[in-house]
Amino acid sequence: MTRDTHATVTQSRRIERLVAGQATSDGAGVKLTRVLTHQLQRRLDPFLMLDAFGSDQADDYIAGFPDHPHRGFETVTYMIAGRMRHRDSAGHEGLLENGGVQWMTAGRGVIHSELPEQEEGLMEGFQLWLNLPARDKMRAPWYRDFKAEELPRFTTAQGVDVTVIAGHSHGIDGAVTRDVTAPLYLDLHLPAGARFEQSLPASHNAFVYVYRGEVDVAGQAVPTQRMGLLANDAQADGVAIEAGGAGARVLLLAGAPLHEPIAQYGPFVMNTQQEIFQALNDHRDGRLGESA
Ligand code: CO
Repeated sequence: MTRDTHATVTQSRRIERLVAGQATSDGAGVKLTRVLTHQLQRRLDPFLMLDAFGSDQADDYIAGFPDHPHRGFETVTYMIAGRMRHRDSAGHEGLLENGGVQWMTAGRGVIHSELPEQEEGLMEGFQLWLNLPARDKMRAPWYRDFKAEELPRFTTAQGVDVTVIAGHSHGIDGAVTRDVTAPLYLDLHLPAGARFEQSLPASHNAFVYVYRGEVDVAGQAVPTQRMGLLANDAQADGVAIEAGGAGARVLLLAGAPLHEPIAQYGPFVMNTQQEIFQALNDHRDGRLGESA
């Protein structure tokens, strides 16, 4: 499907800051880059974390993420290349592969594993943590797998391929929508020199992450493997992203901030320390992954 002239951004947000992310490892030793770190949680509310993983060295990913708990937020895993098997305490199981998305609402708690189903070759993707409003943190867990061909997609007149993982873009509804945080999650494949415009409410926190090539946003270059925080200018009505001469692949994320206290201890993200102690107790006593 082709969409054109739908977005009319008269003034683009500018880049407030470029972020390189931190090399780290998680799970049973999976090497990854934490693009959205703890220090950016308030600035990028409602987003809590973004990890980028990508390697063709099996040692970097083979041990995967064995059984671990989550409570109080949502995890969105987008697999560009490779295969990962997911199993959780709510009885969900799925194979995530080549362009697929897994959206999991941990709510009051799940225990799950995310394990590679390949012993060699490229494994590449992203895991985003999206906060839940206080009132939804103890809701029942929810889970959905989307194969690549199930994700809403469109192509602009300039040839930009857009996958709408969440939210709305150019009249297309994403695979998932959420009321309170209204997350927008787009994967953009821009041919050389192409421009993509997306309207954004001024109050929404937003960023781009460039994972191939380089882009220009309001006169500032964002190189590959960099996050560009988009300033919340009251005058800006969206963002205009222009690909460099080699084309680019970019994640664009935006969401309405919750403005609620964030209390995090590892895989538990609540509003108060008391709720964190409760999560630890529930996990210790085996109540965290129980179905109601
Ligand atoms: Co997990």
